[in-house]
Amino acid sequence: MNAVMQDGFGRQIDYLRMSVTDRCDFRCVYCMAKNMTFLPRQQVLTLEELQRLATLFVGMGVRKIRLTGGEPLIRPGIVDLCRNIAALPGLRELVMTSNGSQLGRLARPLVDAGVKRMNISLDSLDARRFRAITRNGDLDQVLHGIETARDAGFERIKLNCVVMKGRNFDEVPVLVQYAIDQRIDISFIEEMPLGDVGRSRGESFCASDEVRALIASRHRLLDSTENSGGPARYVRLEQHPDTRIGFISPNSHNFCGTCNRVRMTVEGKLLLCLGQDDALDLRGLLRRYPLDDQPLIHAIQKALRGKPLRHDFTPQGEVQIVRFMNMSGG
Ligand code: 5AD
Ligand code: SF4
Repeated sequence: MNAVMQDGFGRQIDYLRMSVTDRCDFRCVYCMAKNMTFLPRQQVLTLEELQRLATLFVGMGVRKIRLTGGEPLIRPGIVDLCRNIAALPGLRELVMTSNGSQLGRLARPLVDAGVKRMNISLDSLDARRFRAITRNGDLDQVLHGIETARDAGFERIKLNCVVMKGRNFDEVPVLVQYAIDQRIDISFIEEMPLGDVGRSRGESFCASDEVRALIASRHRLLDSTENSGGPARYVRLEQHPDTRIGFISPNSHNFCGTCNRVRMTVEGKLLLCLGQDDALDLRGLLRRYPLDDQPLIHAIQKALRGKPLRHDFTPQGEVQIVRFMNMSGG
């Protein structure tokens, strides 16, 4: 099929992030409220529908798919879904974002299924703090997951850490050291104002420049022009060539000009921008046209032409989007 994934500003969209569940075994303070209600089953796309959409998007020119959640690895049938998507002709890579809790069990089957890279959340190396941030998480289980993944043969593993004052900012050097010891990458992320999580985010907001300065007080940093096609800016450590450090700064550095992605919620809503409400309901079309992809392709192309230019997060991270991150495809 033709290269049809272009938006109204000439950006080529070749990266799709698909949420495969809104559920999660954790309740991270920056992602969810304490008491969350999850979607009823019939509103969630079936595995067959997820597969159909992935096939359609790859046919339209998507080259990279990331499966996210919620926690993708708690969706039954996830390994088979990965195997089917990874085998799509034209797809360059299938990658995933996970909280790590199930990786002890699933890292190897996922590598065998064709998942190339894994991003794993890790916000603290202190078991009590880890539990306070995730509300449910068990640090040892996640570390076991990370270490199993490291040995399982992924092409790359990256840790993701959302940095918050008063919760884990002081642990940045320890987290960097862990990444060095494991010979994996780590990215530090500014908290984004998605959903009312029951606390003010301004108090804990921490800009990437502060995180970078803290790391630079202990390591010589080499700026890097490396780019994994995403919003992260990378540095390398002079003494530790196997670890890259990324900074993802949605609030303090706008990176929308080179945006190459769209997101699919598990309800089948195509979100054109993480920071805007513009969306296309593909579930309705999927179910109305079970055998004909043409109406979906036309609707997707039309929606892409209306992809917003940029998000409007402010440096202090106070703008609110009503959607929670687990609904947006982390
Ligand atoms: N701001 C920034 N990152 C977030 N994540 C979830 N919620 C937020 C938020 N409000 C990211 C974290 C987590 C991944 C699943 O999504 O990096 O590791
Ligand atoms: Fe779950 Fe990830 Fe959200 Fe934490 S950030 S609650 S692990 S989906």
